[in-house]
Amino acid sequence: MPKVIGLIGSPKGARSNSRVISDYLLSKLEEKGFEAETILVYPEHRKDPQIKGLIDKLDKADLIALVFPLYIDSLPARLIRALELISKHRKTRKVSKDQRFMAICQSGFPESHQNNLALDMCRCFAGLSGFRWIGGLPIGAGAIAGEQNLEEAGGRVYFIRNALNIAVEAISQGKEIPEEAKQAAAKLPIPAGLYRLIGNLSWKRRAKPYGHRKRDLHAQPYLEGSGDYHM
Ligand SMILES: Cc1cc2nc3c(=O)[nH]c(=O)nc-3n(C[C@H](O)[C@H](O)[C@H](O)COP(=O)(O)O)c2cc1C
Repeated sequence: MPKVIGLIGSPKGARSNSRVISDYLLSKLEEKGFEAETILVYPEHRKDPQIKGLIDKLDKADLIALVFPLYIDSLPARLIRALELISKHRKTRKVSKDQRFMAICQSGFPESHQNNLALDMCRCFAGLSGFRWIGGLPIGAGAIAGEQNLEEAGGRVYFIRNALNIAVEAISQGKEIPEEAKQAAAKLPIPAGLYRLIGNLSWKRRAKPYGHRKRDLHAQPYLEGSGDYHM
């Protein structure tokens, strides 16, 4: 039975949009005959900064599916550190079998293409680490997942489920993530403008209990010359 590892790169760990996306992907791959395991990168790295156990497991996997949130057009810090350690380790070992690597990057902004740069980084990592890159899936508006089981989250996450279903079908046939999956992931259930409006309202609502107003949300306290800003 081929083994797939869902590698979660969110600092939020088990309660994250990345986790629910990975859970759905893994459950569909299990239906296709894969044996699945989930590894949370952040807790693993906190437990063991050399992530030895994680690295050993990756060496034995047939498919690795990295799922992570976009952080400042890049990857979260501990995930970058983990990938550096994995890459360093794999340069010293002989690749003994074909190991596929895919990545799903999901972001707050609605445009899925925002994730392409981070996915390119994952493609470079895979190539430098002896994995066979089978493609990346960029998902915009990942927050719509709402850290909720995708099977139960209804029509609002249809675009994510649909993209993952197309990807799983291709993977089970030994193919790469098709363009069709990327196009499906780009189809939001609501217009991007409405998504932004709801997002802005939600930030204001969340700031209110802390006594912050709209102006405070635009603060740039670390910007040169802004030393007089007081929160
Ligand atoms: C520090 C930080 C940086 C972020 N940077 C970006 C970004 O550059 N572009 C974007 O679209 N979303 C960005 N986001 C939003 C996250 O990618 C988004 O909320 C994601 O769904 C979180 O996934 P998670 O629950 O798996 O952690 C950022 C969030 C945080 C906390």
